[in-house]
Amino acid sequence: MRELVKHVRASLFRVGWPKDERAAVKAMVSSITLHIHSPKVRPASLRFRATWALGVIAVVLAGMLTATGVYLMFYYYPHPDVAWRSMKDLAFVVPFGVITRNLHRWGAHAMVAIVTLHMLRVFLSGGYKPPREANWVAGVGLWVLTLALSFTGYLLPWDQLAYWAVTVGANMAGAIPWLGQPLRVLLLGDMTVGEAALLRFYVLHCVLLPLLLFGIVGFHLFRVRKDGGLVTSEHDPASDRTKEGHRLLPSWPHLVYRELIVGLLTTAVLLLLALVANAPLEPLADPSRTPNPAKAPWYFLGIQELAHWSAFWGGVFVPAITVLGLCAVPFFDRHMDGVGRYFPRERRVASGLFLALMTFFAVVTVIGTLFRGPAWALMWWPN
Ligand code: HEM
Repeated sequence: MRELVKHVRASLFRVGWPKDERAAVKAMVSSITLHIHSPKVRPASLRFRATWALGVIAVVLAGMLTATGVYLMFYYYPHPDVAWRSMKDLAFVVPFGVITRNLHRWGAHAMVAIVTLHMLRVFLSGGYKPPREANWVAGVGLWVLTLALSFTGYLLPWDQLAYWAVTVGANMAGAIPWLGQPLRVLLLGDMTVGEAALLRFYVLHCVLLPLLLFGIVGFHLFRVRKDGGLVTSEHDPASDRTKEGHRLLPSWPHLVYRELIVGLLTTAVLLLLALVANAPLEPLADPSRTPNPAKAPWYFLGIQELAHWSAFWGGVFVPAITVLGLCAVPFFDRHMDGVGRYFPRERRVASGLFLALMTFFAVVTVIGTLFRGPAWALMWWPN
């Protein structure tokens, strides 16, 4: 038996526990999971402030959302007659149903926030400059996909919140000139949110969008490696050396251990949140009872706020130009001065403009979320 266990282990782990640098590099290269990393990394890219661990947290959240999502799929049925009841079953009947749903819901909100912050950190450090242009554009795709995944998942509980948030979101898409109405019908499968929309959102949320996300995340991580690791400052070459003067450190254990710690901490924080706060479930969706005001999911409330001023300029033009502008940035801003540092003098204008854009969206999102009451009237006190 012992021999058999040894045999199975040897077939899976070809290199034993690495005891020196050579073995560590061999372990990184021979394992499919570890091979995502390059065998060695620059010491400067291991510092917390190089990434604030945001990319790794996003990967951990994506994994956790997939695992909890698969569990939820066993008990969920995408039909208006039973979808809401499945949520009740999860709350009262299914083993670990409450915690799994809580983890999935809070993890999805966290994912939107973390991916946005990751984009901010990459921009501020100039991580989109050559040769990382393609990876930045892939990142913008991941940001849009994250929002789309969260939006399609929003409808699935089929409660009042879900129904009306998605109705508002779909109406916003309908404001796009010429394309809007066909797009809305394509998305909903009908003129209003109903049985067809629920099935479409379910397939998008559980199959199509996750497949796309994992494909692009694979490309994204591959590019991080092929573009020479993370961007670090050219002005501080000494910071790229260890005390012993080595230029590179083996990823095992230096990077992999850090990632494990980030993974454990992320899981612990999310578990704690899932234990103390339950994901909301409002009464069953009722198409005849419109809440006042009907609000989109929080990450679209900035756009809803802008759309209130002008359906086309606020609801369509600003979001479209923002996404296109983000994709175009690396092809216009190409000089390499100040890259790898936060707020360097050479990148004052770029950093200032990007922060202004993010602050603008944050402010309109807060107004839409907290300071809009019935009939979208402005409230002077948080709603
Ligand atoms: C599902 C979403 C995402 C995941 C899982 C993810 C994951 C990662 C990871 C693990 C890294 C390396 C470590 C780090 O920088 O923290 C990274 C780097 C990078 N990410 Fe992302 N990312 C995502 C979204 C984005 C977005 C929205 C953008 C920008 C629009 C972006 C652009 C980049 C770039 C350009 C790099 C290389 C940066 C550098 O060299 O410093 N990523 N990403």
